[in-house]
Amino acid sequence: MKKATETIQQHWHDDSHAAHPPVTVNPPVYRGSTVLFRDYAEMCKAGRGELQSPVYGTDRFPVQRSLEEAMQKLENGALSRIFSSGLSAIQNTLLAFCKSGDHVLLVDNAYQPGISFCKRILPKFGIETTLIPSAIGAEIEDYIQGNTRLILLESPGSNTFEIQDIPAITALATKRNIITAMDNTWATPLYCKPFELGLDISIQSLSKYIAGYSDVLLGAVTVNKKYAHILSQYYRNMEMYTPDSDCYLALRGLNTLATRLRQHEQSALQVASQLINHARIDTVIHPALPNHPQHKLFLRDFSGSSGLFAFTFKEKYSTKTLGMFIDTLEHFGLGYSWGGYKSLLTAGKQQRHTTSLYSGKTIIRLNIGLEDPQDLIQDLERGLSVLS
Ligand SMILES: Cc1ncc(COP(=O)(O)O)c(C=O)c1O
Repeated sequence: MKKATETIQQHWHDDSHAAHPPVTVNPPVYRGSTVLFRDYAEMCKAGRGELQSPVYGTDRFPVQRSLEEAMQKLENGALSRIFSSGLSAIQNTLLAFCKSGDHVLLVDNAYQPGISFCKRILPKFGIETTLIPSAIGAEIEDYIQGNTRLILLESPGSNTFEIQDIPAITALATKRNIITAMDNTWATPLYCKPFELGLDISIQSLSKYIAGYSDVLLGAVTVNKKYAHILSQYYRNMEMYTPDSDCYLALRGLNTLATRLRQHEQSALQVASQLINHARIDTVIHPALPNHPQHKLFLRDFSGSSGLFAFTFKEKYSTKTLGMFIDTLEHFGLGYSWGGYKSLLTAGKQQRHTTSLYSGKTIIRLNIGLEDPQDLIQDLERGLSVLS
């Protein structure tokens, strides 16, 4: 054998058929485009679509399949598929379930890039979107058109945390044969069960609490039995790809989700309760606090809260003054995304298309991480003192 051929021989030890292959606590990660068949007969079987195992890199390697199964069970759905980010999960839900001529209803407090996709990209495929008030319930009927195909909710929604009356909406939608989907990232499947509230589709950005360490971008779409076939077919035809190594990180995160989320919840409630009484703060926007406008719906539909909430100021501050407050903070990183162990802050004005309680106000959004809440409270109080 010549040297070039020698270096290309299979150097790893394939023990998948050994009597006792090693079993580690965590699953092995696959990396590959080509999957080798054992012989020509197996290749022919793959060609006929008769092999259950992956036949190509886009065919969902074992860790990805485990993550899908874990998400499907946690959500109590019928089928889950993994996408390259939470945004991709949102976008592909719309593409998988809508066609040219369809109309979509989208809550105005949805994740902004999802709104942009509906407004800027979907019209290219003949799909129109109407943005509807964020705290909507049965009044959604007024917005339904003959061609309304899908209602996309986010509850509590991005940055202002309005909650929709989900059962009222799904009851109406079911009668009209309209598909209902919800971005369930804030509560995670641990604190909100979308299918029990009558939804057809649950979307999750796994980049947040599920993965938990701000080091991976992934999303999941879970559907009920009625829509499982459409999602499965769509996914196969699009040949979606998510690296097994990223799925591994999300699957690993799931093991500690319940413990982390409980701590995020307790710490956020502690920080929020302290901020309520601060002289400079106008409203603390947290669904689990009794002052939240849809607190009753929260208690009815959610079994817990997470670590993301916001507040507004009594006064208007200049960018410079706001910067003085924010830049003084030691424990809050300035950056997008949330759900990780590190506390983060974003600040900005809401751009709503429908009326909002907070229009024109600067929203300070806090991701309460896993630091000691007392340190976070002290940090915020010190920062806020700069404003006086
Ligand atoms: C509510 C919500 N949904 C979806 C996403 C998108 O997730 P990803 O960052 O994984 O694309 C985000 C991101 O911040 C979000 O806040």
